[in-house]
Amino acid sequence: MPIPQLIQRPRRLRRNPAIRRMVRETRLAPENLVLPLFIVPGQGIHKPVQSMPGVAQLSIDEALPIAKEAYDLGLGGIILFGIPKVKDSTGSDAYDQDGIVQHAIREIKRFLPELYVIADTCLCEYTDHAHCGVIRANEVDNDATLELLGRAVVSYAEAGVDMVAPSGMMDGMVAAIRRSLDGAGYVSIPILSYAVKYASAYYGPFRDAAENTPSFGDRRSYQMDPANRREALREAALDVAEGADMLMVKPGLAYMDILRELRDHFDLPLAIYNVSGEYAMVKAAAANGWIDEARVVMETLLGFRRAGADLILTYHALEAARWMVAK
Ligand code: PBG
Ligand code: ZN
Repeated sequence: MPIPQLIQRPRRLRRNPAIRRMVRETRLAPENLVLPLFIVPGQGIHKPVQSMPGVAQLSIDEALPIAKEAYDLGLGGIILFGIPKVKDSTGSDAYDQDGIVQHAIREIKRFLPELYVIADTCLCEYTDHAHCGVIRANEVDNDATLELLGRAVVSYAEAGVDMVAPSGMMDGMVAAIRRSLDGAGYVSIPILSYAVKYASAYYGPFRDAAENTPSFGDRRSYQMDPANRREALREAALDVAEGADMLMVKPGLAYMDILRELRDHFDLPLAIYNVSGEYAMVKAAAANGWIDEARVVMETLLGFRRAGADLILTYHALEAARWMVAK
């Protein structure tokens, strides 16, 4: 059978690695990745998180060498979650100048001044009920929480943080935090808003890591309904109007359509959170020999970039950066 004259041949540009590399549309580099770290008080503590192989709760001294590796590998930065010794009803360690995360920021910045350090900003790791805000009449009191978030970010700024990332899905949190930072003279500290955060079962393993499973109810009165797409655009628009410098979508894999939607509608840099449950599934399949872990991880991270993410928060950050450097 004669070959048609007008056949289109996209395969010409896939023939060998050299040409594939030249026409590649999306790239993934260590600077696109941010490593989350869970910091606990004490010394010499490296307590593995059962459901997240390779992830541990770390005391500050144990976190320093890991932060150093993150820096040496050229990661975009790290994001810190603090787990205090004592939790209380208002999460006071979150905004205590002497709190766990404030100490961690100070020591990491002293040891590695150029490593970019982001502070996750929420109350749920610090409250005894583990909700993301203070409780009044069995509900999370939005506006009372804003005041505390404002104090938290100023304490992080005083400790030397580079960026704050409010994750509690309180209405008006970006404006409140911007006002507090500016009022304290920290006009140059950017806000990465978890603008679009869904109430997700994929956070399961994180709740072991951060010990923040709500003692009653769930987070559906403040985190978004997974069914909603238009609402994501509205949440993002509000945060832009309130002064967010970057926007985040969370979780990642099941919400890549939302990330693309934001990419098409907003011009701010975007982040995505490749959350604990997504990490746990890959680790479990890999431990069983069912997938090629490195290839699956790199394909997933590249997928986030293709969908529109500038920045990817991921527990795979160190290993992925090592694979990139080795290649
Ligand atoms: C809480 C917070 C959560 C995560 C980051 N910040 C959990 C939650 O909302 O229950 C999840 C991260 C992950 O699953 O990796 N503000
Ligand atoms: Zn929270």
